[in-house]
Amino acid sequence: MVLEQLKVPIVLAPLAGGPSTAELAAAVASTGGLGFLAAGYLTAAELSERIRRTRELSDGQIAANLFVPGSSAAEPGSYQPYCQQLARWARERDLPLGEPRYSDDDWQAKLELLLREGLPVVSFTFGCPERQVLDALRDAGSEVWITVTSPEEADEAEAAGADVLVVQGAEAGGHRASFIDRPDLPLYGLLPLLSLIRSGSPLPLVASGAIATGKALAAVLCAGARAAQIGTAFMLCPEAGTSEVHRAALRTQADTGLTRAFTGRLARGIRNQFMDQFSSAAPIAYPELHYVTSPLRRRAREQGEAELVNLWAGEAHALAQPLPAVDVVRRLVAETEVALRRAVAQGARSAASVVAVDELRALADRWYEAWNAHDLDRILSHYAEDIVFSSPFIAALGVDPSGTVIGKPALRAYWGLALKRFPELRFEPTAALFGSSSVTLVYRAVEGLQAAEVVELGRDGLIVRASAHYDRLP
Ligand SMILES: Cc1cc2nc3c(=O)[nH]c(=O)nc-3n(C[C@H](O)[C@H](O)[C@H](O)COP(=O)(O)O)c2cc1C
Repeated sequence: MVLEQLKVPIVLAPLAGGPSTAELAAAVASTGGLGFLAAGYLTAAELSERIRRTRELSDGQIAANLFVPGSSAAEPGSYQPYCQQLARWARERDLPLGEPRYSDDDWQAKLELLLREGLPVVSFTFGCPERQVLDALRDAGSEVWITVTSPEEADEAEAAGADVLVVQGAEAGGHRASFIDRPDLPLYGLLPLLSLIRSGSPLPLVASGAIATGKALAAVLCAGARAAQIGTAFMLCPEAGTSEVHRAALRTQADTGLTRAFTGRLARGIRNQFMDQFSSAAPIAYPELHYVTSPLRRRAREQGEAELVNLWAGEAHALAQPLPAVDVVRRLVAETEVALRRAVAQGARSAASVVAVDELRALADRWYEAWNAHDLDRILSHYAEDIVFSSPFIAALGVDPSGTVIGKPALRAYWGLALKRFPELRFEPTAALFGSSSVTLVYRAVEGLQAAEVVELGRDGLIVRASAHYDRLP
């Protein structure tokens, strides 16, 4: 599975309409993340060229994302009044508009191209293709990821044979990936949506929506995602094709909102005049309205007129930084590691209070037994993956001994050495003091050395915190 091969839990979001470039995808892929290319609005030939260029720039993992076309064109009666309103407004200002039209965005040709390319991942947005399409892509060597925005869509994608679900919360920038746009579209926030889908589906999940810091990335990993699909936080990178007017807006603290005014499909962008004026009148008619406003948006982008551009952005856009993509990934990964360690330490503290004395007594007995048998695996089996550990001895690991979070590999290395150094080591319990979730063990360790060790258990009965104090016996 591709997610297992990634060196960092970061997936670049496909960013159709300009920001997505071969350079950006290659830069993220080169860090060990997944570099996505957006196929939306490109012809098959353009997509083919981008794939070639990305491969030329990086031999990392790359993916492509396709919009699933709607099954039919919108009813003209549903969008004509809106088009007339736009036409009057545009005429008064001498602004260009296009004609409404349906298009499947070169669907068949792009699909055939991807069947030939055999990229590690192909993802779909705005729907889930039939099982035959998914099977054909898998036969061609691609995993199939489906973007979902509700538990119902997750069930549908799982039933169709998706390999991975990209879970898009309402915070996300750009279009809602909903299979069908409708007036009463559910708008799940990312964390509740992840929790709901995690509880019902065994499929690996990738979380998407306003993740711009390592703390937020740590949160979605804790909530059951295997990686985060991140868009807006990469849009100020020099490798991104984001327009200048869009970059300037991303750097502000401006609010975002959801609108159909630009494309006829619900999308999140930075609020501006066009959005505020037309959102309430805009009907559901995608891609018809996309083609109506596209000349207007192109002109506004060229002229730096931010009030008329679709400034797609997630809710945390103000946290995006103008750094090379490699540095964005590095910063996110470093922050995530710190955030996860802090959360473990914090969780260990608050997990107190539920452990019975019998359980603590049994733990103490088993723990002494394991130590006295010099059985490293059994000793380690009593500990959680990461523990808050404080002992004068762990300075030997090169870490600060005061309440440091350390993982099992470090504990194994250290205790392996301790057992080698003291082949006669035996612990003799001399006293035990039971608290609500901790036990203070007083024991004689090596000859002439007495220790008092406070051991705290988490909810699963594993040691989450231990601190030892040693005294030389007189
Ligand atoms: C400019 C822009 C273009 C987008 N284009 C696509 C796209 O082509 N395909 C897709 O699945 N999602 C697209 N998205 C949504 C992203 O996949 C992702 O859900 C979103 O970027 C996550 O929120 P964030 O931008 O706050 O990180 C786009 C988002 C933005 C901001």
